[in-house]
Amino acid sequence: MKKINIAIDGPAGAGKSTISKLLAKKLGYIHIDTGAMYRAIGLKVLNSNIKSNEVERILEVLNNTDIQVRLIDGNQLVFLDGEDVTEKIRQPTVSMYASDVSKIKEVRERLVKIQQDLAKQKGVIMDGRDIGTYVLPDAELKIFLTATAEERAKRRFLELKEKGYEVDYYQLLDEIKQRDLNDMTRELAPLRVAEDAIVIDSTNLTIEEVLQKVLELFYKVI
Ligand code: C5P
Repeated sequence: MKKINIAIDGPAGAGKSTISKLLAKKLGYIHIDTGAMYRAIGLKVLNSNIKSNEVERILEVLNNTDIQVRLIDGNQLVFLDGEDVTEKIRQPTVSMYASDVSKIKEVRERLVKIQQDLAKQKGVIMDGRDIGTYVLPDAELKIFLTATAEERAKRRFLELKEKGYEVDYYQLLDEIKQRDLNDMTRELAPLRVAEDAIVIDSTNLTIEEVLQKVLELFYKVI
């Protein structure tokens, strides 16, 4: 069976990673989580005690930063200057930094290059904000996965709580709305539905139901 590329875009907490992982397993495809790369740069900026609006200083740091993505047994590991930061980048404090650094042109250029290289072989499911519109405009299947902000905040709340983080639902809801706004209104590759994308609203759907819908779309394309 020929391999295609699948772009899965959407706002924070819509279930992109969960669906992409399951889909990758089912199809024997590779899952690339591009948000993790922006998070890695966000973490570096946070650790360097730089405010996310100090662009000049961020660019200086970026020049001395090594980011690598390795795929091991279908899992994506992210290395920042040689250190495995796959878990650290999930800290709630890193999210806003990731969103802020993602507005910077040089940051996007650097990461988009890595992303496009990873997708060259096809058989990739890439999730993010600008995959269908910018990173892989030729992806054969484009999904825009969304849900209400309240539902997304609830999912994030349960996920972080399970990992042992002390989080407040209303604070998460505010942050999700702020990140949506940041991501949708930024100048470069803003979050929007690609013209040829199919929108799936997962607010009232189970993971299994979303997966089923995406699989149906996949078999129509293939
Ligand atoms: O997907 P995740 O929530 O981990 O992404 C963190 C942040 O990285 C997002 O809020 C967004 O600002 C940025 N991002 C992006 N483009 C992508 C993926 C993520 O700008 N393709």
